Amino acid sequence: MKHAGYDFGLVGLGVMGRNFILNVADNDFSAFGHDLDQEKVDALKTEGGALERVNASSDMKTFVQALATPRKIMLLVPAGKIVDTVIESLLPLLEKNDILIDGGNSFFTDTDRRETYLQEKGIHFFGAGVSGGAKGARKGPSIMPGGNKEAYSHVKPIFEAVAAKYKGEPCVAYLGPKSAGNYVKMVHNGIEYGLMQLTSEIYDVLKKSARLSNQELHQVFDTWNKGRLQSFLVEISAEIFKQKDDKTNADLIDKILDKAKQKGTGKWTSQNAMDLGIPVPTIDVAVSMREISALKEERVAADKLYARPTPTQQNKDKMITMAEEALYFAFITTYAQGLHQLADASKAYEYDLNVSVIAKIWRAGCIIRAGLLADISKAFTANKNLENLLVSPAFIPQVQKAVPAARELVAYAATNGIPMAGLSNSLTYFDAYTSSTLPLNLIQAQRDHFGSHTYERNDMDGIFHTEWGV
Ligand code: 6PG
Repeated sequence: MKHAGYDFGLVGLGVMGRNFILNVADNDFSAFGHDLDQEKVDALKTEGGALERVNASSDMKTFVQALATPRKIMLLVPAGKIVDTVIESLLPLLEKNDILIDGGNSFFTDTDRRETYLQEKGIHFFGAGVSGGAKGARKGPSIMPGGNKEAYSHVKPIFEAVAAKYKGEPCVAYLGPKSAGNYVKMVHNGIEYGLMQLTSEIYDVLKKSARLSNQELHQVFDTWNKGRLQSFLVEISAEIFKQKDDKTNADLIDKILDKAKQKGTGKWTSQNAMDLGIPVPTIDVAVSMREISALKEERVAADKLYARPTPTQQNKDKMITMAEEALYFAFITTYAQGLHQLADASKAYEYDLNVSVIAKIWRAGCIIRAGLLADISKAFTANKNLENLLVSPAFIPQVQKAVPAARELVAYAATNGIPMAGLSNSLTYFDAYTSSTLPLNLIQAQRDHFGSHTYERNDMDGIFHTEWGV
């Protein structure tokens, strides 16, 4: 097939890269891939052969020269130093106005640094979060681009074609300048950590309280996925509970070691939320729980040192109903925390984010897609300055109705020695955020007592200090 030049280039033909490029080709664009690993190049050529619009080379020069100008090159390589290495090898081959897109989970300040560096060389660089795993990349991911808007306009038709569709609307939108795209993807992942922690706790409590079997858990999650909890993570959990192990024919979930790994995006979300002074306790504790889970050997040893209550058996229907309400409540509070962080970051980093649009492009394709997001998007359309989802008039009645179940479940878990950090932190976040008074006046008094740090008063303006005990 003769080309004036391929429409799209992609560096990094791992699972995500290969699937993304095939998706581009499915949508009538020609695409050229590059990877130093010849095997990956050959695999793509074989798989893309029938499409005719796909080609690949392990030689970077051949790759760059095959592309139509301005070149549109996406990098789907692991975040970190390797992105800089790829940029350095591409640079001598590129021309002014070529466009580089980092589609990985790069840390947002790295994207800002790279954008400034490449701008000086006449190359447009922008970060685009891509969510949806391998299947998403192949069939339609949610894409979160930021950076130079003009440069994005060249890529827009391709991204809109390949992105997941929600009722016909593509799950991609230009989100804002600089590293807005990577930032939004980072918070997406923070929310992802929170929702995953919550679903694991609900699985645990249903198993321990109502003694649900994996088959029953499958049915419960499957039913929930048809209701207001409809979401990718609930859907795949339902599928996971019925999966058999091909080695032992037991339920696979029972054979999986309870040590969760992480690549860092959840931790970054928490760290940055702390920097901004925005509370995201469900996300914080989701990171901590992965860390505690990783201490398997220590946990096994410590387990022998303490007696723990045996969870009292509970009525199945009662627990399932309570768990559904509690999970719904906690999903809302987790989105509320992440979106609060986005709104604040938007001001701090001048991203000019539109939270309603972000919720919209999360409705399909990405890992945190959920039925709830349509309502969340509407809430932020109704009031684009909404401070927190918890104060949205559309959500207040639903949260009000669901919160007693969260209280009851957390109380049950605490009494019965079941760790429920995600749900209890969601509840604490809710209780604290909606409390007009908190006991932190004592903290202020203590600070002033031991360090003359001063305090404000609730009955008059000014800054005060007391010689305590005098
Ligand atoms: C996505 C995911 C993805 C992430 C994995 C693994 O949106 O497709 O967020 O980008 O890499 O979920 O993350 P952890 O290894 O940190 O769990």
